[in-house]
Amino acid sequence: MKTAIYPGSFDPVTLGHVDIIERSAKIFDKVIVGVLRNSAKSPLFSEEERVNMLKYVTRDIPNVEVLSFDGLLVDFARLNGANVIIRGLRAVTDFEYELQLAQMNRVIAPELDTLFLTTNLKYAYLSSSMAKEVAMYGGDISAFLDPEIAKKVRDKFRGKILGYQGER
Ligand code: PNS
Repeated sequence: MKTAIYPGSFDPVTLGHVDIIERSAKIFDKVIVGVLRNSAKSPLFSEEERVNMLKYVTRDIPNVEVLSFDGLLVDFARLNGANVIIRGLRAVTDFEYELQLAQMNRVIAPELDTLFLTTNLKYAYLSSSMAKEVAMYGGDISAFLDPEIAKKVRDKFRGKILGYQGER
């Protein structure tokens, strides 16, 4: 049985991530989406929210499981019997960081390989952080996120703005 890990911050999951998950699920027997619990990026959504959003968008893909993790990715992969780490590559700007991550992981866990899937051209420009920035300024994010996820992002920012005004 070939199990792959697709790790990330997923703050929040975008249509680009969903595309990578769908394609990975066709290649592997099982795909575990690993949500990094304590991202240094101080996430907009809690671990639970990010996991639940991923469970929602992958609800129709039977061989996908969503889990959160802390610590080293390779330990999480080993614990779950995964042989492969999947990462999406959008553009050459991703490459340097991704190569370093893959090489680092391979040195500390030689039995694990990283497989890069090129992002669907439709989503090549897309990132969670840019989608959040558009939402923060009230822009239309419907092309970037599943409608339910887009609603959650809008609600989050609405809540933040109201919360801020409430404190004044
Ligand atoms: O979606 P992201 O933020 O680009 O994902 C980055 C992620 C989660 C893959 C990476 O930060 C990670 O693997 N973090 C766990 C700690 C770790 O194993 N780091 C790599 C060795 S230094």
